[in-house]
Amino acid sequence: MILSLSLCVPGCTPRKCGRGVTDAVITREEAERIRRIAERGLSLGGSDGGASILDLHSGALSLGKHFVNLYRYFGDKIQDIFTEEDFALYRDVRQRIQQKIAQAFGINSASMYLTKPTFFSRINNTEAKTTHDEYWHPHVDKVTYGSFDYTSLLYLSDYTEDFGGGRFVFMDAGSNKTIEPRAGRVSFFTSGSENLHRVEKVHWGTRYAITISFTCNPDHGIGDPVLM
Ligand SMILES: *[C@@H]1O[C@H](CO)[C@@H](O)[C@H](O)[C@H]1NC(C)=O
Ligand SMILES: *[C@@H]1O[C@H](CO)[C@@H](O)[C@H](O)[C@H]1NC(C)=O
Repeated sequence: MILSLSLCVPGCTPRKCGRGVTDAVITREEAERIRRIAERGLSLGGSDGGASILDLHSGALSLGKHFVNLYRYFGDKIQDIFTEEDFALYRDVRQRIQQKIAQAFGINSASMYLTKPTFFSRINNTEAKTTHDEYWHPHVDKVTYGSFDYTSLLYLSDYTEDFGGGRFVFMDAGSNKTIEPRAGRVSFFTSGSENLHRVEKVHWGTRYAITISFTCNPDHGIGDPVLM
């Protein structure tokens, strides 16, 4: 379902800008399997503050006040943590989300490339220790991450069941529009200033999600993660 479409700001790659949300692309069961991958990976590290990330593409994992490279740090042990099936599910899920975005915006999915960062996030109410933990500031993805043309979020846990706060808010002139996370829900949007947004602070519990980002520029494309 497309919530709204508007004219893009000039220079923005997509011909039409907008946003959408759907519960029909990823099942709750698939989201729960993906969440278990995130839980396993993030259990190896974790930020001292309340917001941790795991990027299976680059290997970046929050640890204390910094990041380590999961693949370098854990080497062959990674094969005891993740399986081929995990990575196959991850690929399949991101392909279906890519196709959904292409269909919604009337573009060719083959002209979209996965870009970085694409990452799992785990957020709780522990106080921020570094700016990396400050996820709640309003921002435009294209400004924060130059390569993004389309941003998507797959939620892996449920607002009010698993955590409080942590809703996603589009900050529109005159009215804010809120998305309540739930396992399997996908929200997607063009990454420009038409979609200024923020995430409310998580008040209790743990919020899991994955940010999957796409670019139209093949030079900024990245591959799917592979088990080494
Ligand atoms: C919140 O997350 C941090 C790591 O980011 C962890 O040390 C802490 O135990 C977590 N707190 C709760 C209540 O789960
Ligand atoms: C939207 O939210 C921001 C901060 O979250 C707030 O300052 C602003 O007043 C809200 N706008 C409207 C129209 O409610």
